Amino acid sequence: MSTTPGRKNEKLVAVITGGNSGVGLTAAERLLDLHNGDGIEICLVCRNRNRAEAAKNSLLRSSPNATVDIVLMDTSRISSVIKGARELCLKYKHIDLLYLNAGAILVRRGINWSHMMNEIFDSETPGQKILHMFTTGEGLLLQTDNTTNEGLQQVFATNLFGHYVLVRELESLLGHDSPSQVIWTSSRASIKSSFNISDIQHKKGHDPYGSSKFGIDVMSVALNDRLNTQKVYSHACCPGLVLTNLTNAIFPMWVWYILLPFFLLMRIFVANFNLSPYNGSESLVWLSKQNPKELDPKSRYESNTSFFGKRYVSSRKLPIETSTCDQLIEECDAMYRMFKNRQSLDS
Ligand SMILES: NC(=O)c1ccc[n+]([C@@H]2O[C@H](COP(=O)([O-])OP(=O)(O)OC[C@H]3O[C@@H](n4cnc5c(N)ncnc54)[C@H](OP(=O)(O)O)[C@@H]3O)[C@@H](O)[C@H]2O)c1
Repeated sequence: MSTTPGRKNEKLVAVITGGNSGVGLTAAERLLDLHNGDGIEICLVCRNRNRAEAAKNSLLRSSPNATVDIVLMDTSRISSVIKGARELCLKYKHIDLLYLNAGAILVRRGINWSHMMNEIFDSETPGQKILHMFTTGEGLLLQTDNTTNEGLQQVFATNLFGHYVLVRELESLLGHDSPSQVIWTSSRASIKSSFNISDIQHKKGHDPYGSSKFGIDVMSVALNDRLNTQKVYSHACCPGLVLTNLTNAIFPMWVWYILLPFFLLMRIFVANFNLSPYNGSESLVWLSKQNPKELDPKSRYESNTSFFGKRYVSSRKLPIETSTCDQLIEECDAMYRMFKNRQSLDS
């Protein structure tokens, strides 16, 4: 049995948001394999009961002795995050691995052709520009966003703020006697120029996804400054391009299958075309095996697959200033307090 350092005979606990599909579900499966099926408890934090039950059943089919729990939570709704966090506090004494993995991109299906052509023809190095666009998605997609009924931008709330609130609500279960790792699923599509500290929800821009993922990178660094003394270590990772429900929302699966040989060939130049959730979850699982104190808090850890199919993790230094971390965490704290006040007035 794998136990928590400092807490004898207690199993490790891994909580995974968006754990019912894609990279999150595969990470859960791989963590169970790594800990022989019953050396770790998995909690799938999902917004849909049926999808969560189906995921739990698939995990139990491959690891019949596993302990797999479900907590329902919609990360875009702060009331739901607070309710789900309360349930987690009742279930567990300590969380060793908190995967903040749920993520959404809202796209009008298709490519932003005019922007793409302008960018390529305006560039002095069109080849490099094309490669950059395909590896980061920057400027390629026609994105949209909604306002939630709590008044937040949906992509910001789902990917970043809901998760921040979750960390705040779970602080008593993180770190203290034994370390905890907070692992954010970021992306190569995290675009610094899409993020504006005066518009953290990205109400005015055209790349809510890139902005929210850059926000995640910033928040991960900021949390280390705040919580390392409590033995909480935060890191961002990237699964690379993986064919999941998320990419299916961009193009139908048959388009991806037609492009598959191109992506496989492109692995000669670009290692982040991981394609399968198994390859994509490499960095999520790898991080769980590291001593978090020895990792670089200012790097993002990225899953890669070589042309010959070898999986490995590389790190990328993040272009983040301390002042941006301080401002983002301050703003998110102010919003968090507002939601908490609103909730105490309602109850
Ligand atoms: N696929 C890629 O190429 C790629 C690349 C870079 C980063 N990522 C990131 O990897 C993470 C996992 O995505 P994936 O590719 O594995 O796609 P996926 O299979 O669609 O997984 C996304 C998960 O997030 C959940 N989710 C979405 N909105 C939610 C909400 N409001 N509340 C709670 N859960 C919510 C989904 O739940 P439902 O099933 O209920 O929708 C699903 O479980 C995301 O953060 C994504 O941004 C993916």
